[in-house]
Amino acid sequence: MKTVHSSNCVPVALGDRSYDIVIQPGILSQIGHMLSDAGCSGRVVIVTNPVVEKLYGRVVHRALRQAGYSPFFIIIPDGEQAKTVKGLTKILDALVMEHIERQDVILALGGGVTGDVAGFAASTYLRGIPFIQVPTTLVAQVDSSVGGKTGVNHPRGKNLIGAFYQPRMVVIDPCVLQTLPSRQWIAGLAEVIKYGMIADKQFFEYLEHHVEELRKQSDEVIPHVLRRCCEIKADIVASDERESGRRRILNYGHTVGHALEAWGQYKKWLHGEAVGLGMIQEASIAHYLGLCSIDIVERQGDLIKRVGLPSAIPEKMKFLELWQAMQHDKKVIKGDIYCVLPERIGEVRVIPLIRKSIQKWFSVQQQSVVRSTNKLRKPVSRSRLARKK
Ligand SMILES: NC(=O)c1ccc[n+]([C@@H]2O[C@H](COP(=O)([O-])OP(=O)(O)OC[C@H]3O[C@@H](n4cnc5c(N)ncnc54)[C@H](O)[C@@H]3O)[C@@H](O)[C@H]2O)c1
Ligand SMILES: [Zn+2]
Repeated sequence: MKTVHSSNCVPVALGDRSYDIVIQPGILSQIGHMLSDAGCSGRVVIVTNPVVEKLYGRVVHRALRQAGYSPFFIIIPDGEQAKTVKGLTKILDALVMEHIERQDVILALGGGVTGDVAGFAASTYLRGIPFIQVPTTLVAQVDSSVGGKTGVNHPRGKNLIGAFYQPRMVVIDPCVLQTLPSRQWIAGLAEVIKYGMIADKQFFEYLEHHVEELRKQSDEVIPHVLRRCCEIKADIVASDERESGRRRILNYGHTVGHALEAWGQYKKWLHGEAVGLGMIQEASIAHYLGLCSIDIVERQGDLIKRVGLPSAIPEKMKFLELWQAMQHDKKVIKGDIYCVLPERIGEVRVIPLIRKSIQKWFSVQQQSVVRSTNKLRKPVSRSRLARKK
């Protein structure tokens, strides 16, 4: 499939698997011509859910028909429950029944759930057929549609079954975010803030200066936010596609975040909300271990709160519950929990955590909650730092 280059494109440089992220308001109605310009000659299978189908199914279907395609829909359930082996099998069944062939294309239209499961189906059906991401949530537009992580959940854990499988193109229409429920939008902002923290101080400062616009989902900020996040993710993925090194920094906020999600049985917080809380806790750990100044913890916490994300973990949470939940993270290697911790805004490090120091950090934190003060203890000496890698 050919690539299209224009000022709206963010390239993802991965050799013969390179592709473009195209970001343009209203592009949904052009999608048929984009596919034909990109040399896509086969049939198009649109995988989506009932919510997104109702909102955007018609426009995508019409655009594809206008370009000469005869698309058909596979509708999967809304929500995380679609991301299971059973959900995957249903998609594969439909592909078999429709005699979908190698040159045909799967188009994932929806949030991260749709993109993950449709991408995984594309990676396995006939040992891989082309797939295109058309993300419709903020999380999906700035994160899940880029980088080729696809997969489904296992009852024992999230994303345990999957494959690295890059899309042929990512098509982002910022206009679709207008229908996104505000809670989903705000949850996505946690991943946006994460990019500033891990890779771009200037972008973090931009976010600090545009909190009102971010909260209001203003058109003034959306293009820059989408583009900058995609650029950062594309750059990281291009340097480490399979997460053997640098890509791990994208997990900032996720070690504690995933543990909180599991603790809340995936009901209490949306993923982005848990990541925001995870970033607050992980920055606090970094400060406790002497890795960063209190100013970093406060500035980040302030931004997270100001955009409307939750900022406190439940007081009733116990250290053991948190620690055990953290053990199930995919980033645990031989019992060591590898965690991304900030040193400065825009700079992070991957550090193995030692249970004893984290237990002490946790009790200090609990005490400070009890004293109803936000003051965290002074940084400890580097000797308390977690074991060096
Ligand atoms: N592959 C990756 O690299 C990666 C990265 C981050 C997250 N994820 C995965 O993504 C999933 C979370 O993604 P998500 O937050 O997009 O959740 P989601 O796909 O469940 O979408 C959230 C909700 O928004 C609705 N929706 C989608 N687009 C809409 C629109 N334009 N207007 C109105 N409603 C809309 C959906 O129907 C759903 O109810 C998780 O499963 C997570 O593991 C994957
Ligand atoms: Zn995430």
